[in-house]
Amino acid sequence: MVDASVSQRLVQAIIDNLPKPVPGQRPVHTLGIGVEGKFVASDVARTYCIAEHFNGTPVDASVRFSNGLGGPDRHDGWSDVRGMATRFHLSNGLASDLIGTTLGEFFVRNVDDFFEFSKIAKLAPYKKECWLQKIRDLLQLKFPPRNPYPGETESVDAGALRYADLHRFAQLGVFQVGLIGAPVSYVRAAYHAAHTFWVTAPDGVRRPVRFSWQPVAGVCNTDPKKAPRDDYLREELRERLQRWPARFMLMMMIGEAGDALDDCTKPWPGTRTRIAMGTLTLTKVADNQEEAGERISFNPNRLAPGIDPSEDPILKARLGAYEVSREMRGGCPFKWRPDNAK
Ligand code: HEM
Repeated sequence: MVDASVSQRLVQAIIDNLPKPVPGQRPVHTLGIGVEGKFVASDVARTYCIAEHFNGTPVDASVRFSNGLGGPDRHDGWSDVRGMATRFHLSNGLASDLIGTTLGEFFVRNVDDFFEFSKIAKLAPYKKECWLQKIRDLLQLKFPPRNPYPGETESVDAGALRYADLHRFAQLGVFQVGLIGAPVSYVRAAYHAAHTFWVTAPDGVRRPVRFSWQPVAGVCNTDPKKAPRDDYLREELRERLQRWPARFMLMMMIGEAGDALDDCTKPWPGTRTRIAMGTLTLTKVADNQEEAGERISFNPNRLAPGIDPSEDPILKARLGAYEVSREMRGGCPFKWRPDNAK
């Protein structure tokens, strides 16, 4: 368990980097929308994992989609990481959470990295690079910063790129953030849980795995050459779900010898076996957004029996940090499964 003061400092480091912290709201992924759905496991899922939501019985699911930015301003059309936090509602009031973003790999390996990153990746006035400088950057194998959006005066990109220049492990994550763009819909993006988890099969075999949600409608971004719109993702989802449900496939990649198990900056080879674990069908935007979106508190360590966290230090650190944040904003209390009572 990560020290409570470290959890506090992690959340404070995020708040200190915000242009406009809003007490009572999440310091990151501030703007979001809660959606209702059902998850049905595939036939093969139960042979890999004994967790209740993989036994084939449909389970209710609550999902919160979000923009990655911290703060109250809605800039849906800006390039930004998006979040998809899912709660599988199990029997006896228990739950299992799965939190993913559109980023395949994270940019820090542990809390010390995170504190250093937070110091360097401060907001700074946007500097628009001329085309000549961009060519120079490319020739030096540096990633040229993108142009600011209309109204975007401060950016974290320059600091993050400086950090990535100093730390090779951060490059994949930081470069992905730079290129990520904006989805046409929250349900036209793929979301990755980044960390390794251990799943237990009915025969007792434990396997290291990584989970991702793949949208059945396919991934589609907005045209970066068109002026970005500030607010469309919630309305798009509302209208879409009134017409037709949206679906995601839960994919589980199985790790092999030599794969990074405790480091979420390192990708696994694309040749790893992937199992389709089930389908999530989203049916409606929740009526009560306070309960199903704003006050809900997800935690990547809230896991059904049959799924266990790896030793990834970032995953461990998120346990307490999300609790600190939840308490600060008055979110719903965290409920542990009985055999893991804290
Ligand atoms: C040291 C690393 C990290 C720290 C300190 C951190 C911190 C936080 C905090 C404080 C919140 C708000 C929690 C709340 O108030 O309920 C949050 C939300 C979130 N984080 Fe992280 N996070 C970290 C890494 C990650 C990673 C690796 C991912 C993706 C796999 C991720 C995805 C998300 C998402 C999607 C949300 C929004 C969840 C929701 O809708 O309630 N975070 N994070």
